[in-house]
Amino acid sequence: MMNSPDNNVVHHSARQVAIKIISNVLSQQGSLSTQLARFQQEVAPEHQALLKELCFGVCRHYPTLNSVALSLLNQPFEEKDIDLYAILLLGLYQLTHMNTPDHAAVNESVEACRLLKKDWATKLVNAVLRRYQRECDEIIDNLSAMPSVEYNMPKWLVKRFNKHWPDHLESIIEASNIHPPMCIRVNEDQVSRETYLESLSDKGIKADIGEYSTSAIYLRNAQNVMHLPGFMDGLCSVQDEAAQLSAHILNPEADEKILDACAAPGGKTGHLLEKAPSSQLTAVELEPWRLEKIESNLERLGYPVSLICADAGDLDAWWDGNTFDKVLLDVPCSATGVIRRNPDIKINRKPADINELVEIQKQIVDQVWKTLKAGGYMLYATCSLMPEENEQQVARFLGEHEDAMEVPLNTLNSSLELNWGEAVSHGRQLMPTINGHDGFYYCLIRKAD
Ligand SMILES: C[S@@+](CC[C@H](N)C(=O)[O-])C[C@H]1O[C@@H](n2cnc3c(N)ncnc32)[C@H](O)[C@@H]1O
Repeated sequence: MMNSPDNNVVHHSARQVAIKIISNVLSQQGSLSTQLARFQQEVAPEHQALLKELCFGVCRHYPTLNSVALSLLNQPFEEKDIDLYAILLLGLYQLTHMNTPDHAAVNESVEACRLLKKDWATKLVNAVLRRYQRECDEIIDNLSAMPSVEYNMPKWLVKRFNKHWPDHLESIIEASNIHPPMCIRVNEDQVSRETYLESLSDKGIKADIGEYSTSAIYLRNAQNVMHLPGFMDGLCSVQDEAAQLSAHILNPEADEKILDACAAPGGKTGHLLEKAPSSQLTAVELEPWRLEKIESNLERLGYPVSLICADAGDLDAWWDGNTFDKVLLDVPCSATGVIRRNPDIKINRKPADINELVEIQKQIVDQVWKTLKAGGYMLYATCSLMPEENEQQVARFLGEHEDAMEVPLNTLNSSLELNWGEAVSHGRQLMPTINGHDGFYYCLIRKAD
């Protein structure tokens, strides 16, 4: 424990805080991103990158680390000792993937048991880590036939990906297991992509333009956003290239009434406003704490927006009866196209979640449809690779709504090339790609006049 010199905040080591975060993720007390947001201030600023590396690393490699750990333990830890399991996973991660000297990784893990006042576990943790240190190749070899180890992905997800996308299995897995590239969106309301690229180059930041979104730039090396020219003045935002396509597809225009029905953290809300600052945009979000994120994002970009905290599917709670010209419906989903950004999905997402999410999406899309004017357009979007949440959800919707008709994704923007992803029975599916965009799904639906 250390007192920081400036404000008397007590800082803990990155490992101690990582143990707390991983324990909470393992016991399903929240996602990795919410846990990191909650606890990262407990670590001194100079150690926060290490904290992230430890937490993201353990989640990203969890299927393999978990199989290794279980094979080395006579019996799994009880729920009350989930913190010890977190110590073990962190130790295994350091031994396998980090430059920490082996003896330091083992000693620090043992010391962490003491700090938790669980001295009884020191011998066990020491023995497991030392055995792994000595025999890691043999241990991994013996487990290599398990899908969770072969693919570093939960078995059920491997099966689903293989069932739905047999030709893409290897590339989905590979792209889902890597660090994603850092992609930014240039605020074309303020600056052209070419000019912004030059200002990046002036600062020595190497970057390449995205192939599909006219506002996308990939940074060759991830940067602290504060080093990006004009970030605080709203000249750019961090956003995946596939996610940027939503605003290009919906192509909002001045004075149009637009609904962003599942809006937080507001990435797409901001982009819609950059494209049409004088549109009348309403953003609805269920979670109050996530609504605050939209507020702070839009404050930085400098656009006013009407924010509503409500269940988008409960029209009585938020809708005044005035219809919208265009609706963006970026529904909650399994996020199976963005596992590399949310690797805790490998720990907490379960097969039953898919059916639950399909029901939630059904409720939202069926209700929100009523808020669209005749002749208006709704863009249905997910970051899922599961057809149940995507083309099958849309097929059901179209089958149950006579006034709904699928239209090509470039209907509202004739300069948008449809050279990304692949056409599926309804809409287009993008797979995650190694140096490029995330996995995404889009379908554009028009309401009859
Ligand atoms: C995929 S995220 C949206 C991402 C956002 N469009 C962006 O680009 O930043 C889905 C969001 O929907 C919210 N949500 C979930 N159920 C909802 C509901 N019934 N009504 C409104 N929002 C909901 C979630 O809290 C989450 O913030």
